[in-house]
Amino acid sequence: MTSAVPDLTLNNGVSIPQLGFGVFQIPPDQTKDATALALRIGYRHIDTAEMYRNEGGVGEAVRESGIDRSEIFVTSKLNNGAHAYDDAIAAFGETLKVLDVGYVDLFLVHWPLPTVPGYDYVETWKAMEEIYRGGRVRAIGVSNFQTNHLNRLAAECSIVPAVNQIEVHPYLTNETVRAYDAEHGIATEAWSPIAQGGVLEDPTIVAIADRVQRTPAQVTLRWHIQRGDIVFPKSVTEARVRENFALFDFELTDGDVAAISALNRDERTGPDPDTFARVP
Ligand SMILES: NC(=O)c1ccc[n+]([C@@H]2O[C@H](COP(=O)([O-])OP(=O)(O)OC[C@H]3O[C@@H](n4cnc5c(N)ncnc54)[C@H](OP(=O)(O)O)[C@@H]3O)[C@@H](O)[C@H]2O)c1
Repeated sequence: MTSAVPDLTLNNGVSIPQLGFGVFQIPPDQTKDATALALRIGYRHIDTAEMYRNEGGVGEAVRESGIDRSEIFVTSKLNNGAHAYDDAIAAFGETLKVLDVGYVDLFLVHWPLPTVPGYDYVETWKAMEEIYRGGRVRAIGVSNFQTNHLNRLAAECSIVPAVNQIEVHPYLTNETVRAYDAEHGIATEAWSPIAQGGVLEDPTIVAIADRVQRTPAQVTLRWHIQRGDIVFPKSVTEARVRENFALFDFELTDGDVAAISALNRDERTGPDPDTFARVP
């Protein structure tokens, strides 16, 4: 049975399921089973990264799923130690090898690292363009890029990122970057969509959940969907993996969406992209 997850179309014509499964913080030895469960439930979009050390488990689950490769959308990301041009090309080769699923659907620059000496994300993006021309990736994008970073890519490079994956949830609605993305044909992906659980006891979200007879997690994920962003909640708990997939048989009112958006406190759960500088 195919799921009711809508596809969005990226700026190069590639389709991406709006709901996927994230594997950040899933231990490598549990990632194959977690991904296999998600695929059985109906997820067809998996978000991993070289940094998570679990691309191998994702690849194994995809290969052994019995599902046609073309029906599964796999994202991975360039790690922070590989921003130099040649290192980025080599790192993509390594991701291809470790994933071992023939090609990558979407490859992202994980962090801009604007303050790391000797690094320049413009050089990194030029390597991404070369990777794209190599034909083993269907779309390229960025993650954690602020508007000034995107402006530099627009001025100095040729390919507009297909995606910008940024932290977005009710306590960090990130409207400025989302608006920039929308204006420039860049799809926004919302990471930590339930703030790693941090928004689930919010009284506004709980009240809406009670009214629509859904869980706070479902209401929050549905809010993202109705705002048009792409999400991939992470869970290693089967009931939650199922719950997070059941988003397409109810709707929030415009008033609900506005009330949840109004919860913004500009509160990050993760690092600030302007200063984050961790290189392995
Ligand atoms: N690009 C980046 O820099 C970046 C950064 C962070 C994340 N990401 C991506 O975004 C994905 C999602 O973000 P995230 O993993 O940080 O956080 P998240 O999806 O917002 O939250 C995951 C946490 O919430 C719990 N949870 C999941 N579903 C739940 C539910 N229905 N009810 C109650 N609790 C629930 C999970 O617990 P259990 O697992 O114990 O069930 C886990 O502790 C990641 O996996 C990764 O793919 C990207």
